Amino acid sequence: MKPTRRTLIALAAVALATPAFAQGMKAPAKGKTVGTVLVTGANRGIGLEIAKAYAAGGYKVIGTARKPAEATDLNALAKSNPNVTVEQLDVTSDAEIDALAAKYKGVAIDILVNNAGVTGDTNKQRFGSIDYTDFAAVMLTNVKGPLKISEAFIDNVAASGQKRIAVITSSEGSIAGVTANRQPFYRGSKAAVNMVMRNVAYAVKDKGVIVTLVNPGPVDTDMMKGARGRMPLREVPTAAKDVIAVIAKTTMEKTGTFQSFDGTDLPW
Ligand SMILES: NC(=O)c1ccc[n+]([C@@H]2O[C@H](COP(=O)([O-])OP(=O)(O)OC[C@H]3O[C@@H](n4cnc5c(N)ncnc54)[C@H](OP(=O)(O)O)[C@@H]3O)[C@@H](O)[C@H]2O)c1
Repeated sequence: MKPTRRTLIALAAVALATPAFAQGMKAPAKGKTVGTVLVTGANRGIGLEIAKAYAAGGYKVIGTARKPAEATDLNALAKSNPNVTVEQLDVTSDAEIDALAAKYKGVAIDILVNNAGVTGDTNKQRFGSIDYTDFAAVMLTNVKGPLKISEAFIDNVAASGQKRIAVITSSEGSIAGVTANRQPFYRGSKAAVNMVMRNVAYAVKDKGVIVTLVNPGPVDTDMMKGARGRMPLREVPTAAKDVIAVIAKTTMEKTGTFQSFDGTDLPW
């Protein structure tokens, strides 16, 4: 079947909005940058690889860590690449979020990646002896963090060329997929962040900002070390590149939808 004019225009729009490196092309010439990205929890795991990939693709990267002095790999990245800056940010701290937003007031941020997350201690999630302090900590990190950070940096994103906010959610947040009681804090937090960020998508739509909710799949990070050898885990750099591609390819029609690393829709 011949593609319609509308389909061709839509495909061209996606291609233009997709950074060159996400399309498998080369990074821009040395000294040139293609935009600015802020990644939370950029000191290890998926966040670190996302930061590395954007930096390699010619972006300025603001990588945040709650303990910058201990962020060895992120500091090494910043040392090797002048476009990478390390900032302190505990995503549960309103004061730290507001202070960072004040520091970057007036600076355009093309892509805001809410990556930082925790699962909570499995032993504290057993029904009958639930630890509500731990529950609150998971919710503060995984749900309130992305909401507050999106709110604090919305002017930066709206002032940018690419205008994108993303959250690294999880298929564990799919209510339709639950058939047993397992990790209710983590699952509850990811279902909640999906709902919160879907609302954010509508709140920022008239500013032209696109919101991506993306599941990276099971990835071989510290978070999944207990699953090593029990299930196939994805390589961290592969997962980071997939996440970046989904962020880049999300159109306004797909804003606020729940997508997996290959761009397929996940059930709520
Ligand atoms: N790995 C998977 O299979 C998988 C699957 C689905 C979704 N995800 C999601 O992907 C994201 C990254 O996970 P990951 O696998 O890379 O986990 P990870 O290796 O455990 O890294 C988690 C990151 O989040 C940071 N973080 C945690 N609490 C924070 C806080 N209060 N303030 C600032 N940073 C904080 C950690 O910083 P510290 O070093 O200071 O602790 C670390 O940088 C999470 O949102 C996770 O839920 C992961």
